[in-house]
Amino acid sequence: MTAFSSHFPDTDFRLNLQKALLVLITILTGLIPLMVRAQNAPPAKMKIGIIGSGRVGSALGGAWIKAGNEVMFSSQHLDTDKALAAKLGPNAHAGTPREAAAFGTVLLIAVPYTALPGVGKEVGDLIKGKVIIDACNPIVARDGDMAVAAREKGVGLMSLEFLPGARIVRAFNAIQAAKMGEAASNNATVGMPLAGDDSNAINIASTLIRQVGYEPVLVGTLATKGKYLMPGTPLAGEHSADEIRKIASELK
Ligand SMILES: NC(=O)c1ccc[n+]([C@@H]2O[C@H](COP(=O)([O-])OP(=O)(O)OC[C@H]3O[C@@H](n4cnc5c(N)ncnc54)[C@H](OP(=O)(O)O)[C@@H]3O)[C@@H](O)[C@H]2O)c1
Repeated sequence: MTAFSSHFPDTDFRLNLQKALLVLITILTGLIPLMVRAQNAPPAKMKIGIIGSGRVGSALGGAWIKAGNEVMFSSQHLDTDKALAAKLGPNAHAGTPREAAAFGTVLLIAVPYTALPGVGKEVGDLIKGKVIIDACNPIVARDGDMAVAAREKGVGLMSLEFLPGARIVRAFNAIQAAKMGEAASNNATVGMPLAGDDSNAINIASTLIRQVGYEPVLVGTLATKGKYLMPGTPLAGEHSADEIRKIASELK
């Protein structure tokens, strides 16, 4: 045996070691993206603050509770919210809009559009960086001139102005509230168009959309396609996910 070979393992052993290292590196390289994805995935159970507990807020809140989330309902009438929460079990709570905004890691706002600027001021310091699902629509017959202004500017951008610093996703804008509460139990194959600017917020909203029985379809940003997410546009009403993709691709 030479001096050289006495200090190093034989060739077979070195080759096997190299192969084992290669296999290990391949496995680790494959695992890293999975670990990153898992870290970015929204939790299955969330704390949701709802501002506006009327038809939309109560239907979605009820469905999210059924899916295992914790929800705090709020409006201008705490007693109504307490009564609603009492019917929905221990994962339902009632609070003021500020309490709901602080409670939720994600918020749903579902108030008449005229109320949105006031809500934005009331909870402004609590919503910076927070994910907000904005279901509110500017309806001219109901909301008057400010709805006209919102439609001219584009409702996605207008909501951003009323809720500065929030990570807004527009969704649930043009499907009837009564259907929103039932979709999960209907095994429906209805798509839900959504628009937003922040990928993490879009992921979270998509998880919540799936939980209530819709297939989320990202149609664009708040500026580009957010303006179509309201009643009276080609995206309004019930469509399959494929139909939504096709309609959205034809909208400028
Ligand atoms: N109905 C639908 O099928 C449907 C579908 C999609 C989207 N939308 C849109 O979603 C929004 C809500 O619609 P909705 O049908 O659920 O209306 P809704 O039944 O009239 O409920 C509105 C809720 O907002 C609350 N609210 C009003 N002003 C408020 C304020 N300043 N602060 C906190 N809460 C306030 C109301 O309670 P208090 O008055 O007690 O505060 C009520 O709980 C609207 O913008 C609508 O266009 C509706």
